[in-house]
Amino acid sequence: MAEFSARDPSQPAFWDERFAAGFTPWEAAVVPSEFGRWLDQAGPGAGARVLIPGCGAAYEVAALAARGCDVLAIDYSAVAVDRARIKLGAELGRRVMLADFFAFEAAPFDWIYERAFLAALPPRMWSAWAERCGRVLRPGGGLVGFFFVDEVAPEPRRGPPFAITSVELRGLLGVAFDQIADHAVAPAESAPVFAGRERWQCWRRR
Ligand SMILES: C[S@@+](CC[C@H](N)C(=O)[O-])C[C@H]1O[C@@H](n2cnc3c(N)ncnc32)[C@H](O)[C@@H]1O
Repeated sequence: MAEFSARDPSQPAFWDERFAAGFTPWEAAVVPSEFGRWLDQAGPGAGARVLIPGCGAAYEVAALAARGCDVLAIDYSAVAVDRARIKLGAELGRRVMLADFFAFEAAPFDWIYERAFLAALPPRMWSAWAERCGRVLRPGGGLVGFFFVDEVAPEPRRGPPFAITSVELRGLLGVAFDQIADHAVAPAESAPVFAGRERWQCWRRR
């Protein structure tokens, strides 16, 4: 396995180093099928403002843009943003912005799409994440996507990816959100690092 010098996943250098080395075991490398089903059945309408925080390779941007969504994908790793822009090409690449989720100027969004972003954050940052999600979504907006859930909190908490329990997630989001969907993702549809512990969830901002 590759040796890395950056060890703190709360810093962009951690992610820059891994993207630059091509060490990205979290990547789906395709548009995840659960996401595709959601788009077809219940997803955002044309013109909906969708935020993808910690977008990495930003695989989902093209599918959202094709549906007419006003999608903004952000990542604070410059290497990730460069890669995503090259892959998406000039026009779609303009939807990818170098920005820190906790600090960028955010207009209210209709949706936040979550995949492997919460699991990238050390647990000490989770309450700030939940608070920020509530702040950047309009009332009635949705937080939807994949959550890395383990019913028994692993001790010590090692990661990334950092697993969260359902109880912890409800504690974080229950303050400002109602859960409106929750089901297990078939292990074969997850990247191996998440397989068997990934759930598709949707939370509505009150
Ligand atoms: C595990 S990767 C997931 C990438 C992508 N969501 C995916 O599904 O492939 C986590 C990503 O979150 C980004 N990230 C971590 N903290 C961030 C922050 N505060 N603001 C923006 N991006 C952040 C990292 O740079 C990295 O690209």
